[in-house]
Amino acid sequence: MNQVQPAKVKGYWEKIAAEFDTIYSGEKSPFKCWLDKVFRADMYERYRLTVEECGADSIRSVLDVGTGSGRFCLPLAKGKERILGVDFSQPMIDIAKKRAEEAGVAEKCDFRVADFMELELDEAFDAVIAIGVFDYINKPVPFLSKMAKTSVVKVVATFPILWSWRAPVRWVRLNLAGCPVYFFTEAKVRKLCAESGLAVKSLKRVGKIHFLVATPAQR
Ligand SMILES: C[S@@+](CC[C@H](N)C(=O)[O-])C[C@H]1O[C@@H](n2cnc3c(N)ncnc32)[C@H](O)[C@@H]1O
Repeated sequence: MNQVQPAKVKGYWEKIAAEFDTIYSGEKSPFKCWLDKVFRADMYERYRLTVEECGADSIRSVLDVGTGSGRFCLPLAKGKERILGVDFSQPMIDIAKKRAEEAGVAEKCDFRVADFMELELDEAFDAVIAIGVFDYINKPVPFLSKMAKTSVVKVVATFPILWSWRAPVRWVRLNLAGCPVYFFTEAKVRKLCAESGLAVKSLKRVGKIHFLVATPAQR
């Protein structure tokens, strides 16, 4: 596998971990908070939808792939038996652990620094989620296939929409910062699922994001 792209992505998320978490914490100027509310409304909506999707009592365990600062793990930790958050950015995992401590759920959250594609897992999870992660994955089929194989009930993932004004803006901004970024059509997401052993349960547009809920086809 070409390791240059993942190394660039890792380097980028090591650099901007603290800044990224302020989208959730609001620890920034009122003007920047306002910008987030206006231009990142779909990030808050995908957060709400994901927590809702995984909140059902039937979901006892969650694997959060590309957990970042672990924000999805915090509300889920309270009602679940097992939460594992994985990210290859050490600074992100440091923040995730700190936030879990502050929220009083540190004992229920297991966080690991690892590239998901290299992570050896000898357990399956009811829900496997990857939110805001496929934006940075150069080979999405093996990544999604691994998520499918690791999940028992559902996979929840997001994919940035190709045909939106934001796509070229992000492409330029991230490439200038040294981080590759990828965009998807709905047809491409459906094809990825078919090739990864997933049956699409729902695929909807949330702002400039495709929000996918799928079930592992072999179960
Ligand atoms: C936009 S952040 C999203 C964080 C979190 N899911 C959220 O929505 O708040 C993307 C994260 O994916 C992580 N990531 C990307 N590729 C990864 C890989 N192959 N293995 C582990 N983490 C990865 C990055 O380090 C980064 O923290």
